[in-house]
Amino acid sequence: MAIRLKVFRFDPEKDEKPYYTVYAVNAGTTDRLLDCLNRIRWEQDPTLAFRMSCGHGVCGSDGMRIDGICGLPCQRLVGSLGPEVLIEPLPVFRVIKDLVVDLEPFFERYRSIKPYLIAAVPPPDDERRQSPEDARLLESAVRCILCACCTSSCPVNQDPETAQYVGPAALVRAFRYLFDSRDQGLAERAAILDHKEGAWGCRTLWKCTEVCPKEIPVTNLIGQIKRRIHETKKGTT
Ligand code: SF4
Ligand code: F3S
Ligand code: FES
Repeated sequence: MAIRLKVFRFDPEKDEKPYYTVYAVNAGTTDRLLDCLNRIRWEQDPTLAFRMSCGHGVCGSDGMRIDGICGLPCQRLVGSLGPEVLIEPLPVFRVIKDLVVDLEPFFERYRSIKPYLIAAVPPPDDERRQSPEDARLLESAVRCILCACCTSSCPVNQDPETAQYVGPAALVRAFRYLFDSRDQGLAERAAILDHKEGAWGCRTLWKCTEVCPKEIPVTNLIGQIKRRIHETKKGTT
């Protein structure tokens, strides 16, 4: 089947403003949208810029807006799309070129939540143990591949007035440590997130959960973080 891709183009070094280029590609229904983009770059237009690595929903590098909804082209089958598909970069972030955006602000917020184990005691000789039950609590959060689809879809992050909100992706990672039975940084972590640009910036708008390609219940995890912060302040944890 023939599919047309209407792709956002912008090179700030030479273009005055963004424009769209339409490419026609022959593809099977079981090809992925990423296959089409690769084919365009290999066979039609080597100047088209986009990120990709694993091609299989693991690396999180190819987040983009597909027909207005953030997602991964490596997870979208051509057969699930219409005859013309609109491809644009993730919103919220500055465009470096075409579909490549500057994710440094995203990773800066990710680093702000201290995405590593905080432990007062040195590890035992073998490893820090955790029961299967405690590990199950973290099961959904550890699926996050930091694709930024949730943060760029969140209306709070999209609003320039509230854009400093830490965002759902950083909160998913914060959950992973706030609820880790081996972590001892609870008070410190709760304090980092206890303000209007932290966990309380979330207005429960659900867009993050709707777009997450790893089907993580993001809104639910953020709700649990808010409760955790509240209980930590009350001293009931
Ligand atoms: Fe991507 Fe989902 Fe992680 Fe957000 S929570 S960064 S959408 S994998
Ligand atoms: Fe945004 Fe998701 Fe909260 S869309 S407001 S982070 S529930
Ligand atoms: Fe790695 Fe899509 S290319 S997640």
